[in-house]
Amino acid sequence: MVVLGIDVGGSGMKGGLVDTITGEMITERFRIPTPPTRHPEEMAQVFKQIVDHFDYSGPVGCGFPTIIKHGVCLSPGNLNEEWEHLNVKELFSNACGLPVTVINDADAAGYAVMNFGIGKGKMGMVLMITIGTGLGSGAFWDGELIPNFEMGQIPYKKYKKIETWAAASAKERENLSFKKWGKRFNKFLEIVELLICPDLIILGGGTSDDFDAYKKYITIETPVIPAKLGNHAGIVGAAVAAVHEAPKN
Ligand code: BGC
Repeated sequence: MVVLGIDVGGSGMKGGLVDTITGEMITERFRIPTPPTRHPEEMAQVFKQIVDHFDYSGPVGCGFPTIIKHGVCLSPGNLNEEWEHLNVKELFSNACGLPVTVINDADAAGYAVMNFGIGKGKMGMVLMITIGTGLGSGAFWDGELIPNFEMGQIPYKKYKKIETWAAASAKERENLSFKKWGKRFNKFLEIVELLICPDLIILGGGTSDDFDAYKKYITIETPVIPAKLGNHAGIVGAAVAAVHEAPKN
């Protein structure tokens, strides 16, 4: 089945048509910058533009960068506060006139990795961590998604959430070396290991491509591996979620 997947981020909204059986993206990725206001109505219009670009009708899968419960945003993450308690599923469905399934973006990326990538067949507790503006996390037990693990939201020292201190955005903002940032990221992983005791941690997002530069600072006992799925994982996972998660959404 071919499904449109849309990965909504704080800086860009990206879509592509995905073969949900093979996990292949069968079109070029189409990206529109996220409106700087990050305002719901404006983002809904961009969502519609992406659907129109593909001249698509059918179910749409969407990865969204906040907690999402039954289509509703429960915390604004790095977006605009107006998103809180807003029904994202309804907003986007109404904007494009199609049924939309919305899940958390890290859950979507995890979906792709667990179905078509390095996580395939991995049992027990697998945690996908996406390293970007924030620290996203997607948890899987025996390959089944447990939605909305928000490990990046753990308070740490003076920070309301540890992602402010340990995400890729902190590395950029403070111009940290891989050594300095790698140690921070390792601290985050130590807390994750202590709290949920995963069997495997898979890293995604742009910074996971630089894994060789900081892997020596990762000292936790849990195996940590990069996803190596390219930057289409969010789109592919969103499309697959539209097939598997729609009844629960
Ligand atoms: C949000 C998560 C999201 C992550 C990556 C965090 O700020 O709380 O829900 O998955 O950013 O976008």
